[in-house]
Amino acid sequence: MNGRIVKDTFSKNDPRPGAALLSPSQEGLSGKTRDLRHFIQVLADAGRLVRVRETIDWKVDIGRMTRESRTSLLFENVKDYPDQRVFTNGLCDTTSIALALGLELGTTRKTLITEARKRMATPVKPRLVETGPVLENIVQASGVSLLNLPVPQWSNYDSGRYIGTWHINVTKDPETGSRNVGVYRMQLLGPKQATVSASPGSHLGRHVAKAEKAGRSLPLPMAVAIGVSEAVIMAAAAAYPDGMDEYDLAGGLLQEAVPLVQCQTVDLEVPAQSEIVIEGLIQPGVRVQDGPYFDYTGKTNTNPNAFLFEVTQLMFRSNPIFRGTSIGVPGAEDHQLFAFLAELNLVDFHGSRVKQVAQNLLLKQRLFRTFQFVGKIGSVVRGKRNQ
Ligand SMILES: Cc1cc2nc3c(=O)[nH]c(=O)nc-3n(C[C@H](O)[C@H](O)[C@H](O)COP(=O)(O)O)c2cc1C
Repeated sequence: MNGRIVKDTFSKNDPRPGAALLSPSQEGLSGKTRDLRHFIQVLADAGRLVRVRETIDWKVDIGRMTRESRTSLLFENVKDYPDQRVFTNGLCDTTSIALALGLELGTTRKTLITEARKRMATPVKPRLVETGPVLENIVQASGVSLLNLPVPQWSNYDSGRYIGTWHINVTKDPETGSRNVGVYRMQLLGPKQATVSASPGSHLGRHVAKAEKAGRSLPLPMAVAIGVSEAVIMAAAAAYPDGMDEYDLAGGLLQEAVPLVQCQTVDLEVPAQSEIVIEGLIQPGVRVQDGPYFDYTGKTNTNPNAFLFEVTQLMFRSNPIFRGTSIGVPGAEDHQLFAFLAELNLVDFHGSRVKQVAQNLLLKQRLFRTFQFVGKIGSVVRGKRNQ
C-alpha cells in the first residue's frame, strides 16, 4: 500500500454512488440526534474530514495511517470489502470533540469543558423506538460471518484483527437488571467468536462474575454496537457509578434522548442508528487469550483471562460504516477522549488509587507521553496487565 492521503472534503452534491452519508430513514428519526453519519457530515462541512479514496489494506495499513494522522479519516475503498467504509480518528482533537457535541467550530477548550459539565449534570433518559436504520439488514446466527466486516488488523504488533476498538458493549447485571454500557476491546477469533477483554473491576467484569456464581453458570447476554454517536462512546468510556445508566449520560451530553431499539435474540437495547450491532452471549466459565495488542500505553498487552463472546445475530445498516481506531501513540484519539473525561472526573482505569490520581493529572495537563509511561508501570511490576 502506498498510503498517500489526499485532502479532499466531502460534498453533499458529490454525484458518485455511495457518496450520500445521510439516509432518509435516519432523517426521519429525529432532527437533532447526532449519529455517526451526521457527525461525519459535520466534520466534512467543517473541512476536517479526509476521504481516502485509494484502496487501502485492512491489514495494518488502515491502522498505520490512522496512527500517523491527526485528522478524521474515512476509508472509502477497503481491500476485499467493496461496499463498506471504515471511519477512524473521529475525536482526534478538542475541536472534533466539541463538534461531536453539537458545539460551534472554534469552541475553546474552556467553553467545551464548562458546557460538558453543565450537560452531564442533567442526564436525559433514552427513548425506545420501534425501528431504526440498524434493522435494515438482519442475519441470524447460522448465516453470520464477522469476517464479512472490514475489521482491521490495526498494527503489526497485534495478534489478529480487532473488531472492538471504538464500540460499546451493553450488558445487564444478572442480579439487579441494571444496564452497563462500556468500551472493552474485542479480538476476532473466528466467524462467530470474539474475545472481550474487561478488567475484573469493571462493570462488565462484575456482571460476568455474577453470571458465573456457583450454582448459576448462565451465559451473559451482550450486545456490541459499532458506529454509534460519539456522545454514546464518550458516556461508555466514562466511569459512571454502578446503577447509573450511561445512555442517560449520553442523552445529557447530547441534550436529547438517545433512540434505542430492542435487540431480538437478547434482552438488551442498542442505539437505533448504530451502523452495526452484534448480539450474542458471553460463555460462563470460559477464558481465552486476547492479544498481544498494541494498547494505549504504546506497548503490547496480553490478557490470558478474556471472556469468550459467541454471536447469536448480526444487524447492520446498508453499506455500513465500520468505526474503529488505532491507538498506542501519544495524543491518539483515546488519549483525547480520556483527557476530556478527566476534566469531568469521569476516568477510572481500575488500577491503584495512586496511579489513577497521577494519570488524571497527566491527562488534564495533556502530558500524553508521561501518561503512557505511568500506564506501563503496573505491567512492569506484574508482567502483564489485566485489560
Ligand atoms: C478506546 C477504549 C478502549 C478501552 N478498552 C478497554 C478494555 O479493553 N478493557 C477495559 O476494562 N477497559 C477499557 N477501556 C476503559 C473503559 O471503557 C472504562 O474504564 C469505562 O469506564 C468502563 O466502564 P465501567 O467502569 O462501567 O466498567 C477502554 C476505553 C476506551 C475509550
